[in-house]
This record gives sequence, structure tokens and C-alpha cells, in this order.
Amino acid sequence: MRDSDSKITNLLKNCKSMTPQEAQHKIQELSKELEQHNYNYYALDHPTISDFEFDKLLEELISLEKQFPEFLSQNSPSQRVGGQITKEFKSVKHQYAMLSLSNSYNEEDLLDFDRRVREGLGITSTGLFDEQIDYVCELKFDGLSISLIYEQGKLVQAITRGDGVQGDDVTTNAKTIKSIPLQLTGNFPKKFEIRGEVFMSRPVFDAINKEREEIGDALMANPRNAASGTMKMQDSAQVAKRKLDCFLYYMLGENLPYSSHFDNMQAAQSWGFKISKEAKLCSGINEVLDFINYWDKERFNLPFDIDGIVVKVNEYKQQKNLGFTAKSPRWAIAYKFKAEQVSTELQSISYQVGRTGAITPVANLKPIPLGGTTVKRASLHNADIIEKLDVRVGDYVFVEKGGEIIPKIIGVDLTKRKEKTEPTQYITHCPECNSLLERNEGEANHFCPNENECPPQVIGKMEHFVSRKAMNIDSLGGETLVQLFNAGLTKNIADLYDLKKEQLLPLERMAEKSANNLIEGLEASKKVPFERVLYAIGIRHVGETTAKKIAKKVKSLDVLINASREELLAIDEVGEIIAISIAEFFGIEKNKEIILKLKQAGLQFELSEEQQQGGSEKLKDLTFVISGVFTKHSRDQYKDMIELNGGKNSGSISKKTSFVLAGDNMGPEKLKKAQSLGVKLINEDEFLEMLG
Ligand code: IVH
Repeated sequence: MRDSDSKITNLLKNCKSMTPQEAQHKIQELSKELEQHNYNYYALDHPTISDFEFDKLLEELISLEKQFPEFLSQNSPSQRVGGQITKEFKSVKHQYAMLSLSNSYNEEDLLDFDRRVREGLGITSTGLFDEQIDYVCELKFDGLSISLIYEQGKLVQAITRGDGVQGDDVTTNAKTIKSIPLQLTGNFPKKFEIRGEVFMSRPVFDAINKEREEIGDALMANPRNAASGTMKMQDSAQVAKRKLDCFLYYMLGENLPYSSHFDNMQAAQSWGFKISKEAKLCSGINEVLDFINYWDKERFNLPFDIDGIVVKVNEYKQQKNLGFTAKSPRWAIAYKFKAEQVSTELQSISYQVGRTGAITPVANLKPIPLGGTTVKRASLHNADIIEKLDVRVGDYVFVEKGGEIIPKIIGVDLTKRKEKTEPTQYITHCPECNSLLERNEGEANHFCPNENECPPQVIGKMEHFVSRKAMNIDSLGGETLVQLFNAGLTKNIADLYDLKKEQLLPLERMAEKSANNLIEGLEASKKVPFERVLYAIGIRHVGETTAKKIAKKVKSLDVLINASREELLAIDEVGEIIAISIAEFFGIEKNKEIILKLKQAGLQFELSEEQQQGGSEKLKDLTFVISGVFTKHSRDQYKDMIELNGGKNSGSISKKTSFVLAGDNMGPEKLKKAQSLGVKLINEDEFLEMLG
């Protein structure tokens, strides 16, 4: 019996022989331990056990909770993976209204604020040795605010800001955010509220958008929208996958342990909350100004977005004396960073057609320096924005570099508008293929429906088809694909397999060797397994992982083509949107023709015999990182074996890694990371032994 099998059997034996009291005690103990590890990892950024060990503890807890469901608590660490659906978010009233902050934009505004605070507190200026106010300076996180209510150390409710008076109950979704503690430790007040900002870090946002791009989904505009959109999702398991994060910055309650904001936030950190280590206690407004100047430049090095700095009077007594206006506290102010802005002439508007047919209007500008680069083009987003801003060719427009990488037009300098200009008429036909554009209800962008003939869409499909994770034909680059299309040699992905060397040689920069490589690459791609072919054909919303799951389940394309809606929905990862997309794809005659031609060319449209027989669940719930060079099989073969046997591949070592499959010459960084996290290294033989 394998080691892990025997562990699980022992685990089950232990559960069976436990009395309910023992089980309850063990569940409590494990929950506490797991929460502590979550805190170490997500709030302190300082894990003390490996992912593998963590997963084992969690596994033990889950199996105990299954055996003794009467002891499953709503706040158990096992609930963090989500799974509960919120049909409708209940609207609830805030016990303390969620106010906003007044804004400041320059030094003068801040000096005014300091003056108002002093006057409010009766501190008169006496010159050089003025009594200084203690301010806490914090980063102004750019996400959505949330209020968390704790009773007896347990998270009981999480509410969005809403209109400030009442917000939505998003407790189920908030529980999936690992930096939000479900159970506190230490000397916390019996009942209190703590507020903070839910956000999505830049690396998480970039990774999600990269994946969306690959499967032709609309990209998310910025991390703030992504975070607030995620918190409104009904399926908490989806929320869990989005890896949101949360900094806390404001505590409310009757019996707070300390008399100042800063001290209470430090205490909150010790109870389990994630508190920004960048917060600083400043003596007097000059130290505040230094803090702001520092972060004005340094903010670009943070892994999350901030849009300013929040300055708060530290002492509660002083806060109380200053009080509130109708909208905001008098004891705090937000300083908003300036987004760099310039004005320049709009020379023309062009329209780009993306791989999925989405149309993006682009402003061509008189070149102008902005934020270290010369800006020539800026996004105009969509027809509604053009209409709202009333942007016209010849106008002077204000251009800003905000959170997004592409600069955007934020307005028109009407004082410089020339006479006799006409409002912009949005195009009605595709600039590439002249098809009549369509616009779906509720969608901002127009799109070209001619997906099988419109050049950028066809070329985009081919680029996706040959890409590394799809057919992996690296001898066929983007430029060659454009050449082939323009020469009339390929009108769709299936035509690639008709290419002859004699047709290639006349193309520009195509030498004998490249032509040979290209033909060989195409030939080799005929061995690419079914799941990657399924990903490569470019069904909207069917990404790499979904394609794998579908392939494993249906085993052949014919089965997929004939699958009913119910059969599709029964596949893991396939929801309503994907099911519709699959049905639509195979409903298009042209797609059927392309598939038939690809089949005739010899591509794999079913799982290989080996895949059909060789699969198992032996590596279920285990995550592997492959590193180094191997002798018995290639890296790709090992990757396939892992997936075929129910395991997961990952590119980087983390707390979640179960094993590193290590070959020769493993990178020293990876080795160090594996050792520091205590992740077990196994060699080829040990791995093959695991599979029996
Ligand atoms: S304190 C009564 N601190 O900025 C004041 N707010 O308009 C409570 N925000 O709605 C807010 N970072 O969503 C505070 N360090 C921080 C913040 C912060 C971001 C957001 C918050 C609030 C808005 C202020």
C-alpha cells in the first residue's frame, strides 16, 4: 500500500474510533491550527509549514467534519473554498453609517486641514514650538470598502458600503478571502466592527486577464472593478478562485482596548487581521507631507493599486471632539494622487478589430510626453463614451494615465474647439471586412459577427491555434500567418494543413530551412493530444483547463458535438455560458467544415488508447512542480501523466505544492524555495513508483 493510501486509511480508522467528544475537541484544535497558519501566510506573509502539510491538516479536518457533521461550524477553515450560492444579497442596515472622506489634492489643502483640526481642538499657533497633532498616515487602497462584524471572536457578518446607510450582506463571499479571519485569537472585544478594503492584487489581476485573453473573454478593466465585480458573484466557489485580499483600517465598537487608532490597529493585527505595515504614526503635518511625497513616487512599486493617502487624527478623544459633518469625519482626510494629465490634438479616430471581433475605437493623437513616455494613441473605449464626452476630430482632448496602462481620454477642452466641427459618427460596418456591426444587449462594445472571414479574427484564431499551449507549432509565427493569409494560402486553421513547401518558398523572408521547419511543425502537431486540439480550435470561453476536463469526460469530439445541454452541464467546470458557447460553435456550418477538414488531415479528435486506459485518481488533490531535466520521459510527458492521474501541475513552488518532481540541474532558486517551505522533492523513479 502506498504511503498516502495508508495515511488516509489510518485517518478514517481514527475518525471511526473517536468518541463524539474527542472528535469535537480535535475539530476545534485543527480549526485553530489552520486559522493560525492562514494568518501566518496571508496576513503576516510568513508561512511556517509547507502547503502539503497545510493540505493534510485541512484534509483531516474535512474528513472529521464529514464524519461528525454536528460539529461543522459556519466559520470552519474548511468553508473557505466556498461552494455556497447567494441567490440574492440581503440588504442590511449599518449599525454605524459608512461615511466617506473629504478629499484634498495639494499641500495647501492639507495645511488647511491641519489648521481646522487645531482650531477645532482649541490649539492656537504660538510659533516654532507649536503643539503637534499625532496623525496616522495610511495608504488609500483602491478597492471596495467592507464592514466586518465580530462577536465572541467570530466573523458574523460582512456588509458592503452600499449607500453608506445600508449595504449588501456578502458574508458567504467574504469568508473565502483568506486574509479575513473567521475566528480571532487573543484579547479581542466581545463585539466590534472593523472596516477595510477588499482588493485584487496586480499579479492576480494580470494572471486572470491573461487567461481571459487566451479564451477570448472580455478583459477586466482594472483591479478595482475586478474586486467589486467578484464580491457580487453568486457562487462563492468562483469568488474563492479570484484570490481577493483585504486590508483593515478602521475599528468601531463600545469597548475598544486602546484610546488611539494606531494602537487598536496594532492590536487588531495580533487578533488575526491583515493591517498594512506601511501605516505610519506621524507627529505633525510636516511628517504627513513627507509620507505623501514618498508614496507619490513609491506607489508604483506596490503589488496593489492605491489612489492616495488617508490622514487620520490618532487620538480617539480628539476625534470625538472634532466629530463629523453630514458626509465625513472632521478628523480625517484623503489626499488624492494626481493622475498625470496633458492636453493634445485628436487627429483621427481609428477602429481596431480584436481576435474575438470586438471593436475598440482608438484616438490618434498629436504625440505628447506623458508619464515618461510619448503618447500617440489613447483608448476611446466604446460608442457610449465617445458620445458622452462628445469627442470630435480636431478637438483638444485631456489625456490621463491612470491605473490602466493605456492612457485614456477624459474630456475635451471646449475652449479650444474649432468652428464647424461635427459630432463623431460611430462606424456601422467593420473596417476590416465591411460586415454590419452588431451590439449585444447590455454589452458596451460593438462587434463584427463575421468570425470566419474577417481578417484580424481569422489571423487571431490561427495565432491561437499554433500557440504553445494549443498545437505548439513554433515554426509558424504571427508574421508568417499574416503573410499566408494575405497571399490567399490560408483562409482558416484547417487550410494550414494543405500548405506545400513550393507555396511557402516565394514568401518574403522564407528560406528553404524555415519552410521545412514549418511543414515539419505542422506534421508533428498531428500528434498533439485531443484536449489540446479542443483548446486550439478556439471555442469561446473554453480555456486550457476546461478543454482538459471536457476531453477527459467526453473522450471524443463526436461525443461532444452530439452532447445535450444537460450532458454538457454535468461536466466539471462547464456552466451555462460555456454550454451555450459550445452549442453555438458546432451549430455554425463553417466550423463543422473546418473540423471535418482537420479530422481528414489526421489531427487527434479523441483520447488516445493510452489516455483512455491509463487514467487514474492516484494523484488526486496533489499539486506538482516539475523542475530540471529528465532521462526517462520528457517534461511534457510527466505533465500529461500528472494530469492523467488526477494531479495538478503548477509553475511555481508555494505553500500549495505537494511535491517537486526534480530532475537534473534543478534551478537553485526553486531548490531554496522548496527547502524553505519544506516541500518534498522526488526524483523520476519515485514519481513513477507513485503511479505504480
Ligand atoms: S478610513 C470614516 N482608511 O476610501 C472614514 N478609508 O472616501 C472611514 N479607503 O470609503 C474610511 N483606504 O473605501 C479609510 N486607509 C484607509 C482607506 C480608506 C481606502 C477608502 C474607503 C472609503 C474611501 C473614503
